Parts: sequence; structure tokens; C-alpha cells
Amino acid sequence: MAKILIINGPNLNLLGKRQPEIYGTTTLDQINELCIEEAKKHSLDATFAQSNDEAEIIDLVQSAPGKYNGIVINAAGYTHTSVALMDALLACNLPIVEVHLSNIYKREEFRHKSYVSRAASGIICGFGAESYRLAVAAISNLIKK
Ligand code: DQA
Repeated sequence: MAKILIINGPNLNLLGKRQPEIYGTTTLDQINELCIEEAKKHSLDATFAQSNDEAEIIDLVQSAPGKYNGIVINAAGYTHTSVALMDALLACNLPIVEVHLSNIYKREEFRHKSYVSRAASGIICGFGAESYRLAVAAISNLIKK
């Protein structure tokens, strides 16, 4: 069975109570369940991770080759700032889908730039928690290719 790693960056542990008008009321635990459910439909085994620490996220990406067949990543604030995370993603040689709850292109200008996008095959954003379901379906397609 193919394996996917779903990485969540800083402050996503606060989902449910964090700016619900932007991010909705679904908690990260509920998103985890939704991803596992969607992964099962595609015969994928999903591992879910969250960290507020940039170095920890980079370590996760570095350790993914050989263990996982693809990565879904919501790097949250690091999306717009982290060259180091982009470099790790470029080096891992795995299919990558970038995901965001909000439509980052509809928001402040500084959110329009994504370093993660330079390493990802594609980006899904703006559908709230549903973005993750779509991202799991997308990574499944990429893995099968
Ligand atoms: C986010 C969008 C980012 O701009 C923001 O910093 C986040 C969440 C999203 O899922 O919509 O923390 O990645």
C-alpha cells in the first residue's frame, strides 16, 4: 500500500478556534480523520503530522524519501517565508501537493507568494477543510502516474 505524509505547519494546531471566519470551525483532529477516510478510498496509508517548528518540518521532509510515496503539505506561515523548507521539498524527489484552507490569492499580498509552490506539482486552496480531501485525491493521482 502506498504511503503519504500530510504535514501541517505552525498554528494549524489551533484550528477550530483560530480566526474561524477565515479557517472555519473544523479542528485539525477532524481534518486528520477526513484525510484518513479519503486516503482509504484511494488505498493509501496516511500519516498526519503538525509542528510549529520550521526545523522539525524540514526534518520530516528530509526523512520522507524511502518511507513515503508522496507529501501533502500545508506549511501555513512558512509557505511565504521559508527558502529552507522549499529547498528540502525540492531535494526530496517525491510528488508534492500544496494545500491551504483559505484562498491565499484572495488575501493580503504577502500571502500571494508561496515558496512551497516552487516544489509542488500543484496547489489546492480556498475550500476550507475540503481542500485536504481534494489534496489527498490529487496526491493519489500523482502517485499512480
Ligand atoms: C494557510 C494560509 C497561510 O497564509 C497562513 O499563514 C496559515 C494557514 C491556510 O491553510 O489557509 O497559517 O496556510
